[in-house]
Amino acid sequence: MIDRIDALAAEGERAFVAAASAADLEAARVRYLGRKSDLTQVLRGLKDLAPDVRGKVGARANEIRQKLEESFAAAEARLQTAAPETARDVTLPGRRPPIGHPHLLASCLREIEDIFAGIGFSLATGPDVEDDRHNFGALNMGPDHPARAETDTFYLNGGALLRTHTSSVQVRVMDAGQPPVRIICPGRAFRNEAIDATHQVEFHQVEGLYVDRDVSLADLKGTLDYFLKSFFGPKTEMRFCPSFYPFVEPGASVDIRCFFCGGSGCSVCGPLSGGWLEVLGAGMVHPNVFREVGYDPERWTGYAFGVGIERLVILRHGVPDIRMFLENDVRFLRQF
Ligand code: FA5
Repeated sequence: MIDRIDALAAEGERAFVAAASAADLEAARVRYLGRKSDLTQVLRGLKDLAPDVRGKVGARANEIRQKLEESFAAAEARLQTAAPETARDVTLPGRRPPIGHPHLLASCLREIEDIFAGIGFSLATGPDVEDDRHNFGALNMGPDHPARAETDTFYLNGGALLRTHTSSVQVRVMDAGQPPVRIICPGRAFRNEAIDATHQVEFHQVEGLYVDRDVSLADLKGTLDYFLKSFFGPKTEMRFCPSFYPFVEPGASVDIRCFFCGGSGCSVCGPLSGGWLEVLGAGMVHPNVFREVGYDPERWTGYAFGVGIERLVILRHGVPDIRMFLENDVRFLRQF
């Protein structure tokens, strides 16, 4: 019996080594390792053997089976790497590669840029890593200004920081040239905040700045009304609430009616919000900011605003939690 098993092992080994195609290899596998192979029959018949030979034959048969399985795996690897064309079935239909598309935030950002481009705003950008002057100092927040503490800032070595808002870019643009200025600056902002359904430590804003002669609060309201209606639809309800930002006077936060609960309060807009969600801050540029960048505040007036992009997208697309934007779960991403 042992001789018979050894002979099967040698034969099987030769067949695996000689297999020149996937079909040859499969035939050898069926013959030497399949359910009806001689080796399997030997293993099945062990129970009928006399107890004194059963142990020896069983041990040998299992050893040979393991060796043959290793030879089969080696032959399979050889065929796949050495001559893939012979191992592949070229008649199979091709596999369609998965095709990506822009992230929901990216496509909404492009859409926002287009809305503002349509009313004469051009695009400006600035660095994520900023210095104190561009993020705070030039925006009427001197070293001891209490408003600095309102946003928990990520500081880097050497006094640099991750910008807490895109307002830093308006300083860069005004430093670089005289009015008129009509720009939007999309980009990331960073704050060391507690994360919840509407707050992230890393999020996106679009800053807007318009400086010219006789720019008024009515211009600001008209522009934001046009923007929010273009983005959300003509029935969008918006409200201006007085708010303090050191770099504007007067300042306002702008809320829109929560689309989720229709005004009763929910986890997105907050149970105490009365159904409104703050989406942006805005106001008339403070004279101190103009002085800092060398603009004459008697000659020029301007408005500025900063929109939180995630909040807009949450509302328009019914995204229940801001964290979903960064989780990269394709089941979420492929819906948009
Ligand atoms: C500012 O950042 C001001 N720079 C905006 C501004 C610009 C005011 C120009 C006046 C003139 P605020 O901290 O309120 O303001 O943020 C603006 C918007 O960013 C908020 O309305 C909100 O939509 C979004 N936002 C703020 N913090 C977060 C956060 N942690 N996660 C997600 N969105 C946020």
